[in-house]
Amino acid sequence: MKKPNRKLDFEQARAEHARLGAEIARHDELYYREDAPAISDAEYDALRRRYEALEKEFPELATGESLSEKVGAAPSEKFAKIRHKVPVLSLGNIFADVEVEEFVARIRRFLGLSPDAPLALTAEPKIDGLSCSLRYEEGRLVLAATRGDGYEGEDVTANVKTIGEIPHRLKGHPPSVLEVRGEVYMTRTDFAALNARQAEAGKPLFANPRNSAAGSLRQLDPAITAGRPLHFFAYAWGEVSQMPASTQMSMIEAFKHYGLPTNPLTKLCHSAAELLHHYHEIENQRAALPYDIDGVVYKVDSLALQDRLGFVSRAPRWAAAHKFPAEQATTILRDIEIQVGRTGAMTPVARLDPVTVGGVVVANATLHNEDEIKRLKVRIGDTVRIQRAGDVIPQIVEVLFDKRPEGTEEYKFPEHCPICGSDAVRETDPKTGRKDVVRRCTGTLICPAQAVERLKHFVSRNAFDIEGLGEKQIDQFYREGLIRRPADIFTLAERDKRSTEKLVAREGYGETSVRNLFAAIDARREIPLNRFIFALGIRHVGETNARRLARHFGTFEALRATARAAKEGTDARAEIDNIEGLGEVVAEAIADFFAEKHNEDELDALLQHVTPLPMEEVAATSPVSGKTVVFTGSLEHMTREEAKAQAERLGAKVAASVSSKTDLVVAGPGAGSKLAKARELGIKTIDEAEWLKLASGE
Ligand code: IVH
Repeated sequence: MKKPNRKLDFEQARAEHARLGAEIARHDELYYREDAPAISDAEYDALRRRYEALEKEFPELATGESLSEKVGAAPSEKFAKIRHKVPVLSLGNIFADVEVEEFVARIRRFLGLSPDAPLALTAEPKIDGLSCSLRYEEGRLVLAATRGDGYEGEDVTANVKTIGEIPHRLKGHPPSVLEVRGEVYMTRTDFAALNARQAEAGKPLFANPRNSAAGSLRQLDPAITAGRPLHFFAYAWGEVSQMPASTQMSMIEAFKHYGLPTNPLTKLCHSAAELLHHYHEIENQRAALPYDIDGVVYKVDSLALQDRLGFVSRAPRWAAAHKFPAEQATTILRDIEIQVGRTGAMTPVARLDPVTVGGVVVANATLHNEDEIKRLKVRIGDTVRIQRAGDVIPQIVEVLFDKRPEGTEEYKFPEHCPICGSDAVRETDPKTGRKDVVRRCTGTLICPAQAVERLKHFVSRNAFDIEGLGEKQIDQFYREGLIRRPADIFTLAERDKRSTEKLVAREGYGETSVRNLFAAIDARREIPLNRFIFALGIRHVGETNARRLARHFGTFEALRATARAAKEGTDARAEIDNIEGLGEVVAEAIADFFAEKHNEDELDALLQHVTPLPMEEVAATSPVSGKTVVFTGSLEHMTREEAKAQAERLGAKVAASVSSKTDLVVAGPGAGSKLAKARELGIKTIDEAEWLKLASGE
C-alpha cells in the first residue's frame, strides 16, 4: 500500500478526530449522565477504536484536551463505592422568616433551656454545589467520596486531587484521622465559559453551575476534571480521631488553619433576630457572589449541644437550611395529565409551555390533587404563575384570570383510572369521617400503572438501587412483559439465556451493558433488611419507618411472623403499634399488607432469589443496645424528647408502654401506673441518675 501523504492527511485526520471526539463525548454524556445510551456498545467501541487509531497514526492529535486517556476507560467502568463511616446528613428546610424563631425555640425546648439562657448559632451560605467528603490520614488526603445516598458514595479521589484549592497535605497539626465535608462548586463565570466551550465543540450544555460541577467531578477520567475549574468550601466533618475544637465556629477556624477553604460569610449569632439579620445580609449579596447559593444554613455552635440534640431521621435537630424565596414565572397551562402512583394515588400534573424559572426550563408542575385544582380554579388554556424553590417540584401559585381565553371549561377530575379504567375513589376515614384528599384507583392488582410504579419504587435509590435498572428501563421491560413483578428482575438473566429475543439485540443495549446489568442485579441478591422492607412499598412505610422495623425485628422472618399475626386487637398488632415512631395507622397498613394473599405470593417468589440481611447491631458496645426502654415520670436533667433520642442513639428501642417485652424502665418522680406495671412484671427499674451513668458508659 502507498504510504499516506502525511501533511495532507493530517488535516483530514484532525477534522475526523475532532468530529469523533465530539460524538464520543455526546454518547458518554447520554450513557453516564442521562442513562440513555443512543447507540450499542459495539458501535461505541468502534468509534473509540477509530479515534484511537487516528491518534496512533498522528500522535500530535493526542493533546491534553483530547479524550485519548479516556480510551482505556470502557463505558462499563464505574466509580468504586465507598461506605461512609459517619453518614452524610441532610438538612431540614425553613421557608419563612417566622420559622427561624420556631427553629430556635424548638432547640431551646428540647434542651430545656430557658428563653434567656445564652444560645449561639452560626449562619453561613448554603452553597449550591455537590457535597463531598475528604478523608485525611496523618494530614494526607487519602480518599474523597461523593455523598451518594448518605451511607454509600462514590470514590472520586483521583478527580478531587485535581482541584487546586483542595490541599493534598494539611498544614499545622491536624488530627490523625480527619474527614472534612464540604461543597464542591463551580463559579458562575466558569460555568458560562465551560458552556461556551461545550457549545463550540457541539457538546451538550449544562443547565446550571451545580450540574456542571457534578458533571465535572463525576468524570471517569480525572484528566477531564482537571480541565474544569472546581472549587471547595469546608463546612462540616465526618470521622475525626480527636476533635481540635469544641464549637462549630472554631472547627471552621481549624479547617482554615489546616489550609482548607472556608466561607468568609460564616457568622456567629446569638438570637433568632441576629440569624435573620445575617440571612438578609447574605440574600442582599447573593447576586454579587461569584457562586450560586440557595439559602443560609444555621447550626448550633456548641458541639456538646449538637451532640445532645442529635438527629431526626437523617437531619440534625441542631441545624436547618433557610431557603431563599422561590423564583416565579408565568406561562400557559396546556393540559392536565393524571399520573397514577404505586398506591393508586391519582396526581394531576400540569403540562406547561416551557418557561425558564431561575435558570431552569420548566415544562411540568404538580397540581397535587383534585382539591388543589378546585382551589386554584384553574382551567386548561389559562395563564398561570408558577414557582420553583430549589429542588422542589415546580408548583402553580395562581391563575391570571384576566388572561383567561374564551371557551375554557371547568376541569372535571376523572372518576376512573385513566390507565386501567377501575373506579377511582376518595376514601372516607372511618375515624374522622373526613374524605381523603387523594383520589385513588381501586384496581390495585390489575392496574398496570400501579404495578409499574411499585417496580420503580422497588429499584429506587434507597431501595434496591440497581445500577442500569432505572425508571426508563422498568417502563420498557414492563411494556415488553419481561418484568412484571419484583421477582422477575432476578430471573431476567436466566430467561434471557433461553430466549430467542435476547437483550443484547435491543436498541440501546450491547454486550457490556447487558453484562453490567446482570451483575448489578446479582449484587443485590443479598440486601440490608431496612432497604428490603422499604422496597416493598407498604403504605406509610418510608425509609425511616423501614429502618425502625428492621431495628426492632432484626430479621425479615421475625417481622413477617408478627405482621401476619397482627389482626386488630392482638398482641402482635400492639407490638408494631408500640414501636417508637410508628403508631396505629402504620401498624394497620403493615397488617393489611401482609394479610393480602397477592402480596404474600409475591414475597414468596421474591424470597426465592433475595436474602434480606439481618440488621447489624447498632452501637453494640452500649449496655442498652437492642434493649427496649420505657421512660416514665418526670426527668430533671433533660427533656423526655432528649432522653428518647439518647436511648435510640445508644441502640435501644424506646416504647411508649410497659409490657413483657420491656427490658428497662427509667422512672422519675411522679411515675405511676407504668412503674407499678414494671414492678409487677419484674422488669428492671432505674432512676434518671442511673440512666445517665449508663448512657455515658460508666
Ligand atoms: S451542613 C449538618 N452547610 O446542603 C451537616 N450543608 O440540604 C449537613 N450544603 O448535603 C450539611 N452548603 O450538600 C451544610 N454551608 C453548608 C452547606 C450545606 C450546602 C448542602 C450539603 C447538604 C445539603 C443539605
